[in-house]
Amino acid sequence: MNIQPLIKTSKALVAAGKGLLAMDESTPTCDKRFEALGIPKTVEARRAWRELIITTPGLGQWISGVILYDETIRQSTKAGVPFLKVIKEAGIIPGIKVDAGAKSLAGWPDEKITEGLDGLRDRLVEYGRMGARFAKWRAVITIGDGIPSTSCIEANAHALARYAALCQEAGIVPIVEPEVLLDGPHSIERCREVTEQVLHAVFAHLIQQGIVLEGMLLKPNMVLSGSKNATRATVDDVADATVHCLLRTVPAAVPGIAFLSGGQPAEPATARLNAMNTRFPTLPWSVTFSFSRAIQQPALDLWRGDEANVPAAQKALAHRARCNAAAHRGEYDSSVEAADIFNGPGR
Ligand code: G3H
Repeated sequence: MNIQPLIKTSKALVAAGKGLLAMDESTPTCDKRFEALGIPKTVEARRAWRELIITTPGLGQWISGVILYDETIRQSTKAGVPFLKVIKEAGIIPGIKVDAGAKSLAGWPDEKITEGLDGLRDRLVEYGRMGARFAKWRAVITIGDGIPSTSCIEANAHALARYAALCQEAGIVPIVEPEVLLDGPHSIERCREVTEQVLHAVFAHLIQQGIVLEGMLLKPNMVLSGSKNATRATVDDVADATVHCLLRTVPAAVPGIAFLSGGQPAEPATARLNAMNTRFPTLPWSVTFSFSRAIQQPALDLWRGDEANVPAAQKALAHRARCNAAAHRGEYDSSVEAADIFNGPGR
């Protein structure tokens, strides 16, 4: 295994002032988001949406890498330019989601196991030949009465580690994504306890499988109050709980942590990331974003499938990318949020 390119790509993905844009929604997930806005659930609408994202002017200033989906990595712009070419010309590193989704965990009716290891070695070779330099695999952990079970945590941690090993064998940086879901009435303390348990298990399995920690990235959830908990943690509480949890679980050899947004509204997600970087300026890892909804949703709400709305939607997308890039540097505030992305003032 040639480790140096893995290390170089990992570092480039979490470079100062940059983060990742996840645009790897599976077809059913993308369709669900389109349906909510009355956008046709067609291959062409999905292609047009992804074209809008990757052709957003200036995107490469703030976005280091984009996570694609199997359908998307094979698509082209309306003018016939392959998406992969557009992405590379924008100075962005292409990556690919390789898991096959979270399915019911046998014997544990309220829990999920992510599938997709069968045939993964061959798929990684194909994606690598196409130009993907990193990959993503998401495991889902639910907090509820008596769950998560140790069975669920261990099964998912093992699958994440097997995936990561196959990626590194193929020269592809694995992004390891164990997501503790926001859904439910649990407290922020419970989220922290579960996230800590999950991350301990994930790193134990990664180390057991011989993963080169310098050539991978972690994509965790932030530690948050459950979506149905009446007590809402403040921005600083979230930053403190999240960072303390990560300091207890993530080895310093890992170059970067790129958070998922997990259903948080866009602005709080940015503010919480910023607070981590301002309150903890000397962390061992680069702390950035790998958001899907918290970058895409405001733009999708404006686009609604209408070509006439493309410039406004791209402006909204660029704005969120820029705000999150500022949060990575710990420089996000209300003036960055209020700035007009294309007409200034801005940084
Ligand atoms: O797997 C999930 C995505 O990569 C991140 O999506 O930011 O909407 O949670 P999200």
